[in-house]
Amino acid sequence: MTKDKFKIQFAEAAEAAFKEIYGDIDRTEGDHDIFTRDKIYDGLETPKDPKMGRFAFPVFKYAKLLKTKPQEIATKTADAINTYLDRQQRTPLLRCEAVGGFLNVKTDFNTLARETLGAILSQKEKFGSADIGRNRKLLVEYSSPNIAKPFGIGHLRSTVIGNSLRRIFKKLGYDVVGINYPGDWGTQFGKMIVAYHNWGNKDTLEKDPVKNLLELYVRFHDEAEKDDSLNEAARQAFRKLEEGDPETVNLWEKFKTISNEEFNLAYGTLGVEFDEVVGESFYNDKMDSVVARLEKAGLTRISRGALVVELDDPNLPPCLLKKTDGATLYVTRDLAGLIYRWEKYHFKESLYVVGTAQSDYFKQALQVIDKLETAENLPPEQRMTGRVRHIEFGWVKFEGTSMSTRRGKLVFLKDVIDQAMALAREKIKEKNPDLKDFEKTARMIGVGAVMFSQLSVRRQKDINFIWNEVLNFEGETGPYLQYTHARLCSLLRNYEGDIGGEVDYTLLDREEEQRVVELLADFPETVTDAARVYDPYMVTAYLLKLSAAFNKVYQRKDENGRIDKIISDDRELSKARVSLVRAVQTVVKEGLYLLGLEAPEEM
Ligand code: ARG
Repeated sequence: MTKDKFKIQFAEAAEAAFKEIYGDIDRTEGDHDIFTRDKIYDGLETPKDPKMGRFAFPVFKYAKLLKTKPQEIATKTADAINTYLDRQQRTPLLRCEAVGGFLNVKTDFNTLARETLGAILSQKEKFGSADIGRNRKLLVEYSSPNIAKPFGIGHLRSTVIGNSLRRIFKKLGYDVVGINYPGDWGTQFGKMIVAYHNWGNKDTLEKDPVKNLLELYVRFHDEAEKDDSLNEAARQAFRKLEEGDPETVNLWEKFKTISNEEFNLAYGTLGVEFDEVVGESFYNDKMDSVVARLEKAGLTRISRGALVVELDDPNLPPCLLKKTDGATLYVTRDLAGLIYRWEKYHFKESLYVVGTAQSDYFKQALQVIDKLETAENLPPEQRMTGRVRHIEFGWVKFEGTSMSTRRGKLVFLKDVIDQAMALAREKIKEKNPDLKDFEKTARMIGVGAVMFSQLSVRRQKDINFIWNEVLNFEGETGPYLQYTHARLCSLLRNYEGDIGGEVDYTLLDREEEQRVVELLADFPETVTDAARVYDPYMVTAYLLKLSAAFNKVYQRKDENGRIDKIISDDRELSKARVSLVRAVQTVVKEGLYLLGLEAPEEM
């Protein structure tokens, strides 16, 4: 984790102060570690009102152990901490103050500004990068749509979160492998094949492949409700596929090609990248050995003709490996995939970005692995248990309704993007009709709005996609952040002097400016926080705060009610302010990049 330098200094000082004052207290009861600098660091909070300090340390939890009132602890330790800091520092950087049961800590603004802005202007987009992930292999699987169905907005969230996590972990120096795992195997292909034979033909399929596939899929489910023999036919067709019947395999290949072309188009538009695309069918010849391994470990059982692994968790049903007819399942392929990836990469961590609907499913699969590794008595370094994580996320509703492929109510991603771009065009026409790169910018904004909508809340929360909200330039949206970026760029274009070098940062003496500098200093920690909780939302929330804070600088009025301009006749002042603008622009652009959004320079 990239730790904040100021917080480390405070934690050290606080540890020393606690030792000095309470060192001889009997600490046999309770938690001893709470006095160590790491625990103090972890306990730091951000005050709601930034004026209270850059960070704060609540001492309430010490009251019982020290048999002292929180206020008293705070007052006593504040003095000791300040004395300690004075001894350590040539220039006073930090100052702490007791307020109620809190130690509020303020940082010396000039030092903070010099260090933060200096770092951003020299490191540019590298600001916030770290090497905590060095020599650490991290797998992240995301998107994984199902072949022979159109790319619906349902797979969008996994795609966007995973793409962002890949970028975030890369920034922290991890050796990241982004994996797409399309669903290109399973009984649904039997259904598609039967549907095609019954109601499809080459011509209609070629005319509008994606749409035709969906029609066939929906039709199958409608008709199968009335005629159960279709389901049996589908099972047989799938068996033929599993046996490698050439005509059936051919048809399956065709479905795959059609879908992949559509998916790749979507990824291209979204700017989403993968390092590897390996579908479910890749594991077809790798399942037998997994099943054999589980059998050898004595973990399998026949239950009503099917092969299962019983799990210890009473809340989980047994994991079904093979059906009565010998057909394998989705989980059989996932188990093979887990083992294959582990043997290939020996990863530090492996993430599966999949909706919360599959949370029990992943628990099952991971418990099977745990049982297997335990039964085989593997040494810790040969176990993947504990390194694999299901990164779950909430449901996506579209204008209030949930989606179902079966009923054909699917919302196509392509339509969503087209609509978003159309709305973006309207907005630009209204605001800036003469914009140079009109089409390109409309695409950036439309796509950005759609991508951002998936990151606008914590990943565990549900999302309701509503057009009016997603494209609102003033709301908490992608276009709003992009607009802020464009405005920063336009300020920089208007400035003729140079930036950086000798800058007198003491000139940034307005409260609004200081708030922006403090936020900029928080960026590196924000990135590691996002990685720690596997949630790009940390970056989203941060960028919104930073943009709002900057917009206050931008709109600030002087004593006479006139806008306090960033660029004025005062050369030194302009230079300091424009350096701040450059730093904000750099961080906003990098933050947008981490989320997967482009940053237009004009809009
Ligand atoms: N294709 C699956 C679905 O759409 C998601 C795959 C998730 N990844 C996995 N390893 N199971 O539901």
